[in-house]
Amino acid sequence: MNIILLGPPGAGKGTQASRLEDERGMVQLSTGDILRAAVKEGTEVGKLADEIMKAGKFFPDELMAQILGEHMDKLGAETGIIFDGYPRTARQAELLDELMAARGRELDHVIELVVDEDALVERITGRFTCATCGEGYHDKFKLPKVEGKCDQCGGTEFKRRPDDNEETVRTRMAEYRAKTAPILPIYEARGLVKRVDGMADIAEVTDAIEAILDGK
Ligand code: AP5
Repeated sequence: MNIILLGPPGAGKGTQASRLEDERGMVQLSTGDILRAAVKEGTEVGKLADEIMKAGKFFPDELMAQILGEHMDKLGAETGIIFDGYPRTARQAELLDELMAARGRELDHVIELVVDEDALVERITGRFTCATCGEGYHDKFKLPKVEGKCDQCGGTEFKRRPDDNEETVRTRMAEYRAKTAPILPIYEARGLVKRVDGMADIAEVTDAIEAILDGK
């Protein structure tokens, strides 16, 4: 099964993708994570991505698709993919069709996380991750069980994303509204779109997505 999680910045795409990975054995392909890894490695792609991401703008469509294809090729044909943060433009939706067709894959669901944008700024500016294992936390919604210590790996260093400040978040949301939301009708016309209330508790959102995947 191959699915797309769609929603504005902070809608919970990454949170839900990682829960589905744990529970379903699917693999999350997050283009944001892929670009952040390139920034960390200091590659040419990373240098370009760093500037674009700090501005809250989108990385070029064709190059993004090429990089995503390379990651898809590392997966076995039977491994289900959760696309997190891709596609983000009408052109990327076309390119995804090509990437999927070339690998004999089909899209099963496009799940839109429906959220209240005003709440998202608080979600994003409060989020942080374990610097060792990447487990995600939030100042208000999900603190480590023991203060200063990661629940997963016991790490004591945490970090925040440089693009998680309010000004950049507003640009990211404007980009979503202008370029990403308009691709929903493409998938609606194919009968693939399902909507989930992304403002519900994290576990409830997962249950709603699982019900869709189970055809309930
Ligand atoms: P990317 O990393 O994809 O960021 P994004 O789309 O802005 O989404 P986020 O990761 O911010 O949010 P999320 O929906 O995953 O929410 P999360 O689960 O973390 O992209 C970053 C940048 O990379 C882009 O701006 C662009 O420059 C570039 N880029 C990436 N892909 C690209 C592409 N395809 N083309 C071009 N450029 C691209 O949740 C947020 C917080 O809320 C967390 O703290 C979480 O704990 C909390 N939370 C989640 N769900 C709930 C809930 N139900 N209730 C309460 N709190 C919750």
